[in-house]
Amino acid sequence: MDTTPDRGIHVPSASSPAPAPPCTLVIFGANGDLTRRLLMPSLHNLAMAGLLADGFAVLGVDRNARTDEAWQEQQTDSMRDYAGGKGGLDEEGWAWLRSRLAYLTGSFEDPETYRQLAAWAARRRETEGNANLVFYLATPPRFFEVIIGGLAEAGLMGEGPDAFRRIVVEKPFGTDLASAKALNARILGLVEERQVFRIDHFLGKETVQNILALRFANGLFEPLWRRDHIDHVQITVAETVGVGTRGRFYEPTGALRDMVPNHLMQLLAMVAMEPPNTLGADAIRAEKAKVVQAIRPLRGDDLARAVVRGQYRAGALRGEAVPAYREEANVAPDSATETYVALRLEIDNWRWAGVPFYLRTGKRLAARRTEIAIHLKQAPHALFRGTAVGALPPNVLVLHIQPEEGVSLGLSAKVPGPRMRLSGVRMAFDYAGHFGVRPSTGYETLLYDALSGDASLFQRADNVEAGWAAIQPVLDAPPPVQDYAAGGEGPEAAEQLLACDGRHWLPLG
Ligand code: BG6
Repeated sequence: MDTTPDRGIHVPSASSPAPAPPCTLVIFGANGDLTRRLLMPSLHNLAMAGLLADGFAVLGVDRNARTDEAWQEQQTDSMRDYAGGKGGLDEEGWAWLRSRLAYLTGSFEDPETYRQLAAWAARRRETEGNANLVFYLATPPRFFEVIIGGLAEAGLMGEGPDAFRRIVVEKPFGTDLASAKALNARILGLVEERQVFRIDHFLGKETVQNILALRFANGLFEPLWRRDHIDHVQITVAETVGVGTRGRFYEPTGALRDMVPNHLMQLLAMVAMEPPNTLGADAIRAEKAKVVQAIRPLRGDDLARAVVRGQYRAGALRGEAVPAYREEANVAPDSATETYVALRLEIDNWRWAGVPFYLRTGKRLAARRTEIAIHLKQAPHALFRGTAVGALPPNVLVLHIQPEEGVSLGLSAKVPGPRMRLSGVRMAFDYAGHFGVRPSTGYETLLYDALSGDASLFQRADNVEAGWAAIQPVLDAPPPVQDYAAGGEGPEAAEQLLACDGRHWLPLG
């Protein structure tokens, strides 16, 4: 695709966004990995972009005793490792943020922590005139309810005309449909839905947000975006990493729970949803919930035919030997946890009836690649009968999410010469190459939106529950786990899943 901007097409440039309103971001889990690796670097990048107000502050809460200065020092050290991107740490930008970091020592289970927090907030209101608080739960999920309960009990969730109060909840949100529903019910017994920002970090990826722009800002695609023209859709989230040090979390979780009800369902929803009435948070989230709720429930024999679970055995990646999942730390030697899952889903609605959506995700695969491949129906061959042209390959529109970021379209073109011969060609738009995007963690947009009160990129209770409902039958009756070699394409049975329908996965390697 020629993406040169100067072709007489005037695209009005959006004025730069205003800084988020002044507030204090209270991070529970201030000494954790997420704070160090993602939250602080993102806040640094937001500060650099002028998107944090002067009255912005961060209060870290955790049980290890620290002074403000010691926590600032600790965060500065890790920023030297994690402030990623080409620019690295900007000393001036970091000094601005560092001076706004404070720390409160306290256990999440102790009501005293919340009393102290309330006293801290009251002092800040007096000195800064600012009572806005956003609570970020960067903690293991077992603390979600306890923290929200503690905040509500201490009167910290009550909003007023001059004070907003929000909570940001990380994944995993529940471990199945029943637990997700129960967690939603308890949270919504304490706070309003509009105060809850459930994160799915895939929605922070620019390329995921671009799916909406691609679909709804271009007249070209919408007429094709339906069962009449689309043969099937493949959604792939392939990783080369193994479970590494996360065995303890991964063993009871597995690839299905870890990736499908959240990340893969988000991708499916972005591709398959109906156009929302507006770009408002509730309009978008209502359409997403609707399409995920329309996934045909997998039952009995259908389930066995439509789901493949796999686990990596030892293999090699980029020439290096890698161990089997069962040999990883904190993994049972006879573990039946899946590190790969592939599903064939159907969406029972007018637009998608009869169009299979194939989803796959796994660890220790041949390549790291997240993409959505939309396979269009084949053109009729009749015209080329009697020529050297064999089967016509279908057009495939690929939305590249990561690490390649962009859009490509596979077309057939005539090979130059006197005879009619065709060759596959690729038109491609590369996001970074075109826009020269600055490296980011993917959390910047999510944080900025939570601070600004825009919930479009966050999951509403019904979105989370729809994702779990779609996979609950598989959790109830999981098919047996098949082996696949680390560094490969996944289990043979996953190939069969498509081969039965006369189709093939796009190769990873
Ligand atoms: C997380 C999962 O939610 O997403 C991990 O728990 C997975 O297992 C990760 O590796 C993938 O995210 P990203 O942004 O690295 O593609």
